[in-house]
Amino acid sequence: MRILVTGGAGYIGSITTLQLLEAGHQVLVLDNLCNAKPGVLERIAALAGRRPTFEQGDVRDTALLHRLMQEHAIEAVVHFAGLKAVGDSVRLLLDYFDNNVQGTLSLLRAMQAGSARTLVFSSSATVYGQADAMPLHEDAATGATNPYGRSKLIVEQILADLATSDPAWSLCALRYFNPVGAHPSGQLGDDPQGIPNNLMPYIAQVAVGRRHFLQVFGKDYPTADGIGVRDYIHVQDLARGHLAALKHVHGSPGWHVFNLGTGCGHSVLEMVAAYEAASGKPVPREFAPRRPGDVAMSWADPSRAQRVLGWRAELGLAQMCADSWRWQSANPRASVDRATSL
Ligand code: NAD
Ligand code: WQD
Repeated sequence: MRILVTGGAGYIGSITTLQLLEAGHQVLVLDNLCNAKPGVLERIAALAGRRPTFEQGDVRDTALLHRLMQEHAIEAVVHFAGLKAVGDSVRLLLDYFDNNVQGTLSLLRAMQAGSARTLVFSSSATVYGQADAMPLHEDAATGATNPYGRSKLIVEQILADLATSDPAWSLCALRYFNPVGAHPSGQLGDDPQGIPNNLMPYIAQVAVGRRHFLQVFGKDYPTADGIGVRDYIHVQDLARGHLAALKHVHGSPGWHVFNLGTGCGHSVLEMVAAYEAASGKPVPREFAPRRPGDVAMSWADPSRAQRVLGWRAELGLAQMCADSWRWQSANPRASVDRATSL
């Protein structure tokens, strides 16, 4: 298939682009590089043995998108482009809605003006808000606890309405749980700017000596060890889920929602222990108050993806940590050296 990947130079997009190329698809990457480096495209090309077409541009540029989709006869779109930091989404609220909601509307308009009607969208388990009952099934109640989460929910609602109003569309939301790990080559991975917001890149930077210790947010949650629990999923498994979703959704008009998680919850301390084992490095930690807005626990019921897509996560914590460590130790100062190509 000829596929447009928006945000294809980013963490999850780069690894999915690589897998799409490896599976024989023609890939056009569109990325404005606001959170990625051009060197990523070289790395994808070296790993795949062939190069995705790359266009530096913004999803909010509807005319550009329309032209590209016509020129490349695009049949389907995987839409990663967007902003993802929960804290920033409060501070930079309008930027978040502009990028995430307006960006998606722009993309849909460009698709509507052409012939592509298949879209796979990066959603998030954050759309389940403050849920009590685990595991989370796709039919669980949704609700946003921050503007980032609301932007994902709004886009899901637009897509659901669009699929109802025009049955030509095949639209899919993939609700990612907590993506971690890296490509096993150590060449592609998560490269956060500044102080990492997410657990695994923070642990990685402590292990490599860039930060002194990890703060463990909250030790009085109603979980087995009092520590926050999440469903961490290897980015390789997650990327594979996009290929499975594309295959199913293309030619299946309507609105499709799938959780992409392992179905297993792990606490922050379990993650730290697994990382220490994989890296052979100590990860000093201190307990700190709960982080505002955090839920106690979150893990997926991934059975719909298994039943309908024939997909399930295969890689465990040891592999997630080993691959993260390979990426971190191969690129110890990646985000510091952002001015360089990589
Ligand atoms: P990322 O920041 O590494 O990748 C996003 C890419 O999109 C970047 O390369 C960035 O330069 C690009 N981009 C941003 N705005 C753009 C725009 N307006 N036009 C063109 N390109 C633009 O993030 P990621 O972790 O790879 O996440 C990909 C998607 O998955 C995002 O939509 C994110 O919200 C979603 N998601 C991520 C996680 C996670 O924990 N990483 C969890 C759930 C959902
Ligand atoms: C995981 C666990 C923290 C950092 C967020 C977004 C979600 C999605 C993924 C984009 C929690 C604890 C963390 C630290 C810690 N992002 N923690 N010390 O909060 O589950 O989800 O990222 O779409 O939308 O909300 O992920 O990695 O930030 O936290 O103790 O320095 O690690 O409290 O229990 P989260 P996370």
